[in-house]
Amino acid sequence: MSEISFAGRVAIVTGAGGGLGKAHALEIARRGAKVVINDLGGDISGANGGTAMADDVVAEIQAAGGDAVANYDSVATPEGGRGIVETALDAFGRVDILVNNAGNIRNAPFTDLSPESVESLLAVHVKGAFHVTQPAFEVMRDNGYGRIVFTSSAAGLFGSIQQANYAAAKGAVFGLANVVALEGKPHGILVNTILPAANSRMQADMNAEQFVGMPTTPAHGEPEMITAMVAYLASEQNTATRELYSIARGRYARVFMGVAPGWHVAHDEPVATADDVAAHIDRIRDLEGYAVPESMVAEFALVP
Ligand code: NAI
Repeated sequence: MSEISFAGRVAIVTGAGGGLGKAHALEIARRGAKVVINDLGGDISGANGGTAMADDVVAEIQAAGGDAVANYDSVATPEGGRGIVETALDAFGRVDILVNNAGNIRNAPFTDLSPESVESLLAVHVKGAFHVTQPAFEVMRDNGYGRIVFTSSAAGLFGSIQQANYAAAKGAVFGLANVVALEGKPHGILVNTILPAANSRMQADMNAEQFVGMPTTPAHGEPEMITAMVAYLASEQNTATRELYSIARGRYARVFMGVAPGWHVAHDEPVATADDVAAHIDRIRDLEGYAVPESMVAEFALVP
């Protein structure tokens, strides 16, 4: 198999001023893409923005002989999303790759979370991904080619204490990605989602209580471990879509949403009661023989 190359491709990486996004952008640029480095340059909550973070990454790419341009818009507004895609079109004339990576965090026990913190996380992770993806999708659809990577989280899909706001936002990213994937496939737009775990300022913001039970054995946590999967998913080599991948502690693995065979009440049998559910609960809960449906319709079609 030939080496992955992004020669002739244009990529957007949101939140690329630091952490994982910076690693993704450097690698995608190193492999030949022209890259839009979006970052509002703020602190971990997303506040106190500036231009330095994005500018520094652009300078690093240019110093290595690559091509990149900065954008300082927040992903959290429709104007910001459009501005990011326009930066790509103005500078490079197309968009082939979008990595939705920008994120913020405000951890606290569930009952201490402010409504404002919920709004803020939904605005960046979910609405942000929506606002950037929609105009990028239009360009990709017109070109008949695209690769989109969404960044969800194990916290969002499996749960993680003191992160109800973050998990709600990351869970919603999964829902968004599923539909973009279904609508993108006929246009050659392949859409996948990562659940990363890597050393970054966001990871450093977690407290010991949140990691109780975590193995302490040495393991990979470099952002570049995540980038390897992102670059693959962003490449022509990748032919999968609507999939989820966990990259944690050196392990790359597919994650999936399955449905068990369950207990079925035929249409000519009486409507079930709570007592019927109680009587069949072991069968309803039994995962043996589960299926992994590719859409809502495919899930309904499993029931005869
Ligand atoms: P980070 O805090 O280093 O990077 C996030 C970047 O997004 C920052 O550079 C920040 O300035 C930028 N950003 C924040 N709000 C923005 C906005 N409204 N518009 C544009 N840019 C904005 O954190 P890290 O760890 O690199 O996170 C990258 C992504 O990976 C995030 O979506 C995060 O939720 C996700 N993630 C990270 C994990 C980890 O273990 N590091 C675990 C699970 C998910």
